[in-house]
Amino acid sequence: MKNILNYSKVYKLFQYIVSGNMGRTILLRDYIKSDGNKRILDLCCGTGDILQYLDFSQYVGVDFSEAHINYCMKTYAEYKNASFVMEDIDIFLDNPTMKFDIVLFLGGMHHIDDEKLINILQKIQTWLAPSGRLITIDGCFEPQLSWFAKMMLANDQGKFVRTKEAWVSLFTSVFKDYKYSVRKDFLRVPYNHIIFYK
Ligand SMILES: C[S@@+](CC[C@H](N)C(=O)[O-])C[C@H]1O[C@@H](n2cnc3c(N)ncnc32)[C@H](O)[C@@H]1O
Repeated sequence: MKNILNYSKVYKLFQYIVSGNMGRTILLRDYIKSDGNKRILDLCCGTGDILQYLDFSQYVGVDFSEAHINYCMKTYAEYKNASFVMEDIDIFLDNPTMKFDIVLFLGGMHHIDDEKLINILQKIQTWLAPSGRLITIDGCFEPQLSWFAKMMLANDQGKFVRTKEAWVSLFTSVFKDYKYSVRKDFLRVPYNHIIFYK
């Protein structure tokens, strides 16, 4: 199951079945809040689905999956202000070439171990415009979750799904003035997400 999700179309189908549009609608409306002037950097962009629902002046998606980046380049070729980079975000973030108003890191942090992630979060700070914002979302363990939600989280492709306490401690060690929200209403199936935002 985990390996077939590397195929872009299978991944998109799986996402569609479990999520529908609910989570994305809330994420766009309540957390991302983009407009046509925003420069958006999408770290671990995957198949870039969010792009078609965003207003932006510039969009850059980064992912190390060749299949996903090829898919994005083909699917979103008509978006002239969008570009895609196939690279490990840890390397990409080393050389800040411009500032972004919004950095999206959606479903990416739980693929990355603590040490590397702290480094990445520190590098993200150097890419943010003065009033720029980082928005993240990842699965999150809590003791009272149903067996189904725990099973879904434990079987995620990412090896670093953390507890709420571990997420908060890790994230706020770098980004001090951020809020977080734990949501159970983003998928059609029982699941627990944590969103960091400003
Ligand atoms: C769960 S998917 C999220 C995709 C997309 N952001 C979304 O919300 O649908 C995680 C993505 O992170 C990418 N990824 C994981 N670690 C990465 C890294 N170190 N550098 C670049 N991409 C990475 C994977 O290839 C995959 O496309």
